[in-house]
Amino acid sequence: MSVLRICGGRRLEGEWTVHSAKNAVLPIMAASILTDEKTVLTDCPLLSDIGYMGDILETLGCRVERRAGSIHIDPQGLCSWEMPDALSKKIRSSIFLMGPILARFGKAAVTFPGGCEIGLRPIDLHLSGLRQLGVDIREEGGMIYCDGSCMKAGTVHFDYPSVGATENVMMAAVLLPGRTVLHNVAREPEIVDLQQFLRKMGADVNGAGTHTIVVEGVHKLHGVDYQPMADRIVAGTLLAAAAATGGSIRLYRTPCAELCAVFAKLREMGCAICEQDQTAVLQAPSRLNAFALLQTQPHPGFPTDMQVQMLALAAMAKETSVVVENVFENRFTHAGDLNRMGADIWVNGRTAVVKGTERLFGTKVAARDLRGGAALAIAALAAEGETTIERAELIDRGYERLEEMLSALGAQASRMDTGV
Ligand code: UD1
Repeated sequence: MSVLRICGGRRLEGEWTVHSAKNAVLPIMAASILTDEKTVLTDCPLLSDIGYMGDILETLGCRVERRAGSIHIDPQGLCSWEMPDALSKKIRSSIFLMGPILARFGKAAVTFPGGCEIGLRPIDLHLSGLRQLGVDIREEGGMIYCDGSCMKAGTVHFDYPSVGATENVMMAAVLLPGRTVLHNVAREPEIVDLQQFLRKMGADVNGAGTHTIVVEGVHKLHGVDYQPMADRIVAGTLLAAAAATGGSIRLYRTPCAELCAVFAKLREMGCAICEQDQTAVLQAPSRLNAFALLQTQPHPGFPTDMQVQMLALAAMAKETSVVVENVFENRFTHAGDLNRMGADIWVNGRTAVVKGTERLFGTKVAARDLRGGAALAIAALAAEGETTIERAELIDRGYERLEEMLSALGAQASRMDTGV
């Protein structure tokens, strides 16, 4: 087990360059098997979820190598259409391989994926999208068997704009002869990035970032070098960390346009934010204001992946804030830990009412999921005394050495590996 130790009370100041986005790298790694040529992804962070995706690709027959910040994927030896059970359960994103495996083999066997415990996270929308393209799907003994022998281009309508389902079906369609139109798709920036990657490979895909994606099937794709987009959630988390300490930081490689909803809330809390191209500069007030209402929604609404970090900020604001979580059912699990640090958060279903308090106190807490762990770190930076955050390995799913990022910005943060 890994433990983060943070001594609160230091203003964050300085500069940092944001790494590529986990949520962009993972689907792109899955898409790399749509060709048998080599793909090189640059500036990829060392994250456990990315490591697991590499392991899964290797068990399917690919060669995956990490060289400095790059990931080299050679899918020439791809030979299996069966996803490894135990590894697939480690990350939700293993499900992204269903579309590309179907596209390459015309069949796929996958297990139900794992991931952070932030809600039910079913995969019905993925399955429904593929069924609408003619894939025959049956479940047997915990496995999902997909037969794509009658799969053909066509029209898909999603009942809800799921990020993963949109990406999965997009990847399944790029090699299908004819036109596939996907309606009511998710509009997240990482889907636009996947489209950009697929187009570089030679795919004919348009419309990502809008409600409709149109795929004209091509015969063959080729390997490419690609730099996935920067991580808007890592950027948002660091800005929230600075805001918690009354700090002032400059972030490079920050997707400012994609952070519009987060910037709006931070500004409502009294932060001054200057954005220029891919650089964001935040100057926080000595005490944050509350925000009236924060509601998570699919993009371009407020991202659920930044909700709990904002909950931590609201806990130390001047008055009362209200947070409504609309995307996942189980994303207030850190309210109890924040309350043990002195916060006053009352949760009822999907709503949290946060009465801001002047002082938080360091104590022993535990991460329960990736973003919640980061939120505890934010609270710890503002708290009096030392906070230890157990199960910090969950934070490593999405932040490359969070303690190093925070230390570089002036925090007193370190890690202990307990070996348990
Ligand atoms: C992706 C992101 C995750 C982010 C989420 C929402 C990756 C690797 N992960 O997750 O960080 O929090 O988008 O922005 O990109 N749902 C169903 N049936 C399905 C699929 C989803 O009911 O088949 C529900 C989910 O339970 C959830 C909601 O739809 O309540 C949104 O999920 P989805 O957009 O699919 O998120 P993920 O792709 O899992």
